[in-house]
Amino acid sequence: MTRIDNWTRPNIRSLVPYSSAKDEYSGADALFLDANENPFGTYNRYPDPQQRKLKAVLVKQTNISPKQVFIGNGSDEVIDLLLRIFCEPGMDKIATFSPTYGMYDVSANIHNVGIVKVPLDANFDIVNTDISPILSDDKIKILFLCSPNNPTGNDLNSEKMMELIESFNGIVCVDEAYIEFSEQDSMAKWIEKHDNLVVARTMSKARGLAGARVGYAFTNEKIIELLNKVKPPYNISALNQNEAIRILENKDRFEQQRNTILNERSRLIEQLGTLSSVEQIYPTASNFILIKVKDADNLYAALLERNIIVRNRSKQIPNTLRISVGTPQENQQLLKAIKEIEL
Ligand SMILES: Cc1ncc(COP(=O)(O)O)c(C=O)c1O
Repeated sequence: MTRIDNWTRPNIRSLVPYSSAKDEYSGADALFLDANENPFGTYNRYPDPQQRKLKAVLVKQTNISPKQVFIGNGSDEVIDLLLRIFCEPGMDKIATFSPTYGMYDVSANIHNVGIVKVPLDANFDIVNTDISPILSDDKIKILFLCSPNNPTGNDLNSEKMMELIESFNGIVCVDEAYIEFSEQDSMAKWIEKHDNLVVARTMSKARGLAGARVGYAFTNEKIIELLNKVKPPYNISALNQNEAIRILENKDRFEQQRNTILNERSRLIEQLGTLSSVEQIYPTASNFILIKVKDADNLYAALLERNIIVRNRSKQIPNTLRISVGTPQENQQLLKAIKEIEL
């Protein structure tokens, strides 16, 4: 048994997954009388359960093989499936560096899995954190590293992430939802070398496809096999697979949108810095900016009154708001509103 087998819940190890005829046959020109579908219509057929075309497009510009790709119904599904595979409810735990993305906790709570939270250091990084509670607890089965981190916006230190991948005796899921906005390299190049590494990505952010729910993971074939075993058979609709392919093939549009967002991010940072209610702007490598203000609840409510919705993160970090970078016009509207509120 490999160590991945050892970490897998016994019931998942022995699970016989659902198998459809579409898993066994991938051609398009056969007589399909297998799935009780209506023979008429456009989207009358179940989608490809293995999303073969989408995976081929997704890995075109990488050294990653389609066999090292899993597509999820958003990367939230990847997070959920990892918990289902590796964490025994009522017994096992996950670990996170807090504050971070809220769904790790929610997924763990759904599965009755414990959570060990280690605080990020003063720079919201993991350089000066005490990782011993993570390394010494053999009930922790998954460690989530979110880089760039939500809601703080910054990259985590890559050497320290690597140290954790090498020393942690369990799955390390590096959540790179915002990596396209960062200058830091993806960890995906290490999936061959480190059998415990799962890199979670999404089309919801830089790719502009949050409405379609398409996330993915790069990892080794062994973990891909487990993810495929546990996922719902047709987890990505045919409409969403087609739309994801269309979006991925339009590289110019992606580059153009990303550049606009990055330029707007710089402009917002500069302009927010001139406002008297803004006390601190935290460094960001993502498409959002965390700011510390004098009275976050007040500013949040005043913006809401003007139909501008930002995210109040004060429960995690006192007096902070998280602002997504919008279109130039939307950002202008936000700045104008804060100036008015300040008067
Ligand atoms: C860090 C992080 N991971 C994952 C997700 C979820 O992404 P998806 O839309 O692919 O489920 C989000 C969404 O906000 C996020 O911030």
